[in-house]
Amino acid sequence: MTEKQTVLVTGGSGFIGTNLVRLLIGSGQYRVVNLDALTYAANPLSLADIVGDSNYEFVRGNITDRQLIASLFEKHQPTGVLHLAAESHVDRSIVSADDFVQTNVVGTYAMLEATRAYWNNLAGDLKNTFRFLHVSTDEVFGSLGEDGYFSEGTPYAPNSPYSASKAASDHFVRAYHHTYGLPTIITNCSNNYGPYQFPEKVIPLMILNALSGKPLPVYGDGSNVRDWIYVEDHCRAVKLAFESGKPGETYAIGGNNEQKNIDLVHQICSILDEIAPPSEAPRLREQGLKSYSELINFVQDRPGHDHRYAIDSARITRQLGWQAEVEFEAGLRRTIEWYLSNPQWVDQASSGSYGEWIEKNYAERGYAQKEK
Ligand code: NAD
Ligand code: DAU
Repeated sequence: MTEKQTVLVTGGSGFIGTNLVRLLIGSGQYRVVNLDALTYAANPLSLADIVGDSNYEFVRGNITDRQLIASLFEKHQPTGVLHLAAESHVDRSIVSADDFVQTNVVGTYAMLEATRAYWNNLAGDLKNTFRFLHVSTDEVFGSLGEDGYFSEGTPYAPNSPYSASKAASDHFVRAYHHTYGLPTIITNCSNNYGPYQFPEKVIPLMILNALSGKPLPVYGDGSNVRDWIYVEDHCRAVKLAFESGKPGETYAIGGNNEQKNIDLVHQICSILDEIAPPSEAPRLREQGLKSYSELINFVQDRPGHDHRYAIDSARITRQLGWQAEVEFEAGLRRTIEWYLSNPQWVDQASSGSYGEWIEKNYAERGYAQKEK
């Protein structure tokens, strides 16, 4: 049996991080050190069942803290870094980008500097095989019209403060490869969905609002398009890129699954109508609700709202043999069932400052308009 590699994962307590940590430990190949600041977006229940695992160590800390990162390198001697920690919600970045600049730009820079110092002192094989994998987003490429796809060659054109901060971090990662030879890999993925996603994001927000009989706030006219990928498919791609990707390379990752927001919300409603009919919930019955789709409300649009994202994943398929496996309707059903089965996780996620955010974001938009 080969010895387990120790890897440093940042942001392992967030949505994608939780799924990735599970994949890495479950593979039997890795020991994971998870560095996470536990911001509002992290949920301590997400990895509660892994906490006692001898292959898992949690460190609460900030990725801007270079001394802390250096001490983790010193102590654990990792064979690589998978960097996910970030502020990730576009609407919050529009209200204020301060945290986005700090974490996504300054934090990534701190990670790169600490990694460079450690990597420079590695010898022989350890130095050759070390990898710094940076998890990024398709949003750095801007917005598509009705046709075409983003791929690795698409010029950067970030439109929101969030995507600008991710683009800046990608540029730093690229520069550290070009200038210092640091063996970096960047992945640019489309919209993830699945278990453990914080309820501010559209899919869990619609599921949980529907189950509470609250309005389903569709931004603008609902015609914006996203390319949805099941989170486990993304995590497999990240693991593969980390293990077999070429240093200096970037990989675009997508679900090959474009959905208009309004169609997505209708699909969520129809699955919920089937597995948790409003007629079986006394409060919703009293509300006179026959179908969750009656809750759909068109609200004021997101400023600068990107129209369409779609990814051409040909490079990672050709070079590494990766393909998305989870079909959308099956993945969406699995996701909805997960939220229905995990009320404690949902309660924890919805506690604290979350209510204030919802109040702020949606009060400004007004739940005024009727479905067209
Ligand atoms: P998330 O918001 O659910 O989780 C982010 C995690 O990072 C949280 O656990 C949080 O506590 C931690 N974190 C935030 N600031 C930190 C700091 N300063 N120091 C240490 N930890 C900190 O995000 P997610 O959706 O899981 O996204 C993870 C990564 O994947 C991000 O880099 C994001 O840009 C990228 N990405 C996300 C998607 C998506 O659809 N969610 C798609 C493509 C790429
Ligand atoms: O494309 C990858 C990106 O996907 C990631 O980099 C981001 O971290 C992640 O948050 C996600 O960004 P989006 O802005 O696409 O995701 P969000 O869930 O916020 O919104 C998805 C779509 O749904 C978008 O067109 C806006 C719309 N929307 C969103 C919310 C929260 C609504 O119509 N109503 C809502 O209440």
